Amino acid sequence: MKLYNELASWWPLMSPHTEYEEEAELYLEIIRRYHPDIQKAVEFGSGGGSNAFYLKRNFSMTLTDLSPEMLEVSRELNPDCEHIQGDMRYLDLGDEFDLVFIHDAITHFTDKADLLEVMQNAKKHLNEKGILMIMTDQFEETFKPVTDHGGIDQAKRGMRYLEWTYDTDPDDHKTETEYVYVLRNEDGGIAREFDRSESGLFSMPEWEELLAQAGFQAHFERVEYTEVEGNYFAIVATQL
Ligand SMILES: C[S@@+](CC[C@H](N)C(=O)[O-])C[C@H]1O[C@@H](n2cnc3c(N)ncnc32)[C@H](O)[C@@H]1O
Repeated sequence: MKLYNELASWWPLMSPHTEYEEEAELYLEIIRRYHPDIQKAVEFGSGGGSNAFYLKRNFSMTLTDLSPEMLEVSRELNPDCEHIQGDMRYLDLGDEFDLVFIHDAITHFTDKADLLEVMQNAKKHLNEKGILMIMTDQFEETFKPVTDHGGIDQAKRGMRYLEWTYDTDPDDHKTETEYVYVLRNEDGGIAREFDRSESGLFSMPEWEELLAQAGFQAHFERVEYTEVEGNYFAIVATQL
């Protein structure tokens, strides 16, 4: 996506970190139910580092992402965290953690073989009692087409966006999202950009089976946001 590459500097205007405070608190509460004593965590696909901004108050966080541009955005927000570039399927930090946290970044995989590689890599990065938490936005059981919009002004720049997620083929294990961005530069000039992404759409039993293949037991935990409608579930994966 352009948003994670040449447009990455606009990310804080599209998705300000202050919008993540509630969700980070909800995730922390679930994480603590399964592992009350997390000291050391790593995030795969940490993007702009918005959840990490809140989670890092409770334990140390190493932040990893495929995109050097997104890591740069996160470094501004989380200068106290170590940042490492890498693909979550193959990254090798040579270290073990109490928690591997993967947020919506995992939805970018539309192939089960890729998901399995991510899970196996997460297991490699966990110590004996460590847990994996995955917060995917969508499951086959709960998916509904959705339209969203937003964006903010920051100093002299401003951004507004419209996004539309739908499922053209119920059998292909993916959804499509189209984005329109309107960008106002510091000099007042306006640019318009289009972007597109695909996201994996799998059922809960499919997630469960893949996690079992990687050596995990899956637990689905309901997450209730105050301002977002819909049914959302976190997956907490404990080691078998
Ligand atoms: C929406 S952002 C994540 C937001 C982040 N969880 C937060 O709390 O701010 C999605 C990120 O996934 C990253 N990503 C996509 N595919 C990846 C991969 N194979 N390995 C690592 N990161 C990946 C993108 O570069 C992007 O920065």
